[in-house]
Amino acid sequence: MSDHVSRGSSDRMRPDSEPAAGGERGAAQADLFDYDAELRAHNELFRAAADVGSRDRVLDIGCGTGQSTRQAARAAVAGSAVGVDVSARMLERARRLTDDQGPPNVTYQRADAQAHRFPAACFDLCISRFGAMFFTDPVAAFTNIGRALRPGARLVLLVWQDRDRNEWARAIRESLTAAPAAPACGPGPFSLADPAVTEDVLAAAGFAEVGFTDVHAPVYYGPDGAGAYDAVLRLWEVEDLLAGLDAAAAEQARARLRATLAAHDTDDGVYFDSRAWIVTARRR
Ligand SMILES: C[S@@+](CC[C@H](N)C(=O)[O-])C[C@H]1O[C@@H](n2cnc3c(N)ncnc32)[C@H](O)[C@@H]1O
Repeated sequence: MSDHVSRGSSDRMRPDSEPAAGGERGAAQADLFDYDAELRAHNELFRAAADVGSRDRVLDIGCGTGQSTRQAARAAVAGSAVGVDVSARMLERARRLTDDQGPPNVTYQRADAQAHRFPAACFDLCISRFGAMFFTDPVAAFTNIGRALRPGARLVLLVWQDRDRNEWARAIRESLTAAPAAPACGPGPFSLADPAVTEDVLAAAGFAEVGFTDVHAPVYYGPDGAGAYDAVLRLWEVEDLLAGLDAAAAEQARARLRATLAAHDTDDGVYFDSRAWIVTARRR
C-alpha cells in the first residue's frame, strides 16, 4: 500500500524524473516501496480474478517490480508475460528478481503504456495491479492498450476505490495535515475509483462487459510501528506534506504519524483497512 497516501495527490507524475506512481521517491533501490508486502491480501484476489490460462500471452501494465508479471508467466506455462513500466528503477528490480527466481517466459519493457506502440492484437489478457490509474488521458491509454489485445481478450485491473473509503489514505494524511486532499481528478491513485467514470472510459476505449468486484482487504505497512514508519516515509505525499512544514511542525507531524501507525499495530504487524475494485472487461 504503499504509496497509498502518496497515491492521493494528482501530481504524481514529475516531468523531470520517473513517475513514482507508487509514490516513493529516492535514488537507491532500497528506497523502493515494497508493494508485494503491502498488497499480500489483495494479490491473491487479483490472481484469482486474472485466472491466467496456460497458453495466455499476458500484458502487465505498470508492473513495477514484477510480482504480478512473474506470477502470470508461471501460470502461462505455454504462453508468456510482458511487464511494462515507465520506471527504470522498478524494472531494474523486476529484472534482478526474475534473474534470481525465473520464470524464463517473462520480459520487461520500459515504456509509457498510454503511448507505446505495442504489437497489434498480440495479447490474450491484460492485467494491472494498481498500475493503470496514472494516465493523463485514460481513454487514449486504454484505446492504445486495447489495440494490443486480440478481439475478445480480457482486461483485469485492480484499482482503488475512493479515498474516503480507504482508511490508509485518510488516516495517514490526517495525521500530517488538517488540509483536505484535492479532489481525485487527473492521474492519481483514485482516478478510477468511480465505477461510472471507469465504465465510460473503458467503453469509449473499445471495451465491453465492464464489471466491478468490491475488494475489502487490509493493507500491510510493516511488522511494527517503527517498520511501518520507515515504509510510509517513502510515500511521495508524506514526503511532500512534511517538506511543506517548518522543522517544529514537521517534528510534531512525524510524532502524530508514529502514533497513528502505532495505533494500527496488531500482533502480526501494522494494517489499515482498504477498499479496491477488481475491474474486468473484454476487448470488443
Ligand atoms: C502503484 S505502482 C504498482 C506497481 C505494481 N503493479 C505492483 O502492484 O507492485 C504503479 C506503477 O505504475 C507505473 N506507471 C505509472 N504510469 C505508467 C504509465 N503511463 N505507463 C507504464 N507504467 C506506469 C509506475 O511507474 C509504478 O511502477
